[in-house]
Amino acid sequence: MKTLKDLFLNELADMYDAERRIVKALPKMAKAATCDDLKAAIQSHLKESEGHVKKLEQVFHSFDEKARGQTCEATVGLIEEGDEIAGEFKDSPAINAALISAAQKVEHYEMASYGCLHEWAGLLGNAQAAGLLQQILDEEKAANESLTELARASSNQEALGEDDQNGMENEAAGERPASLRRGTRPVESGRKGNKTLRR
Ligand SMILES: [Fe+2]
Repeated sequence: MKTLKDLFLNELADMYDAERRIVKALPKMAKAATCDDLKAAIQSHLKESEGHVKKLEQVFHSFDEKARGQTCEATVGLIEEGDEIAGEFKDSPAINAALISAAQKVEHYEMASYGCLHEWAGLLGNAQAAGLLQQILDEEKAANESLTELARASSNQEALGEDDQNGMENEAAGERPASLRRGTRPVESGRKGNKTLRR
């Protein structure tokens, strides 16, 4: 019969694999970011994630187990989706907002996983493991919060293009956004300016 300890070690192996995948994926995300603050935040979480791999090894050892990973399909999928969205928004002002959303999905998965692992380590009477898992959980939460702050401070505003804003103004005035009206073409910006120049 499988026990809580088996479940704990199973999830631990999942997160050991997840962290090593994240360590490989983060440099690519940092390269894709066009905002210096976001690049720096990703680099700093890369250092923390390398530390998480080491801490997880210590957790395994505290249970007299050798560190082992088992493919974390959720992280594989989240990283794959992150790659996709980064590719799609490569040349868009929404690239940083897209990268933040992809990174936050990973952070939330990690927060849920480490929250459970921390509780279970406590129930299994391993205070050392519980302490290490709490440290990792705190760093994941802090990383997630800095991403929210960055999104609010700059990336979401950058992503809000002229078309989005025109749409919101029209909606506020009780009209449907230009892009949703049939037979009308959005007004080209700068057309008046060009006419003036030609005169
Ligand atoms: Fe982590």
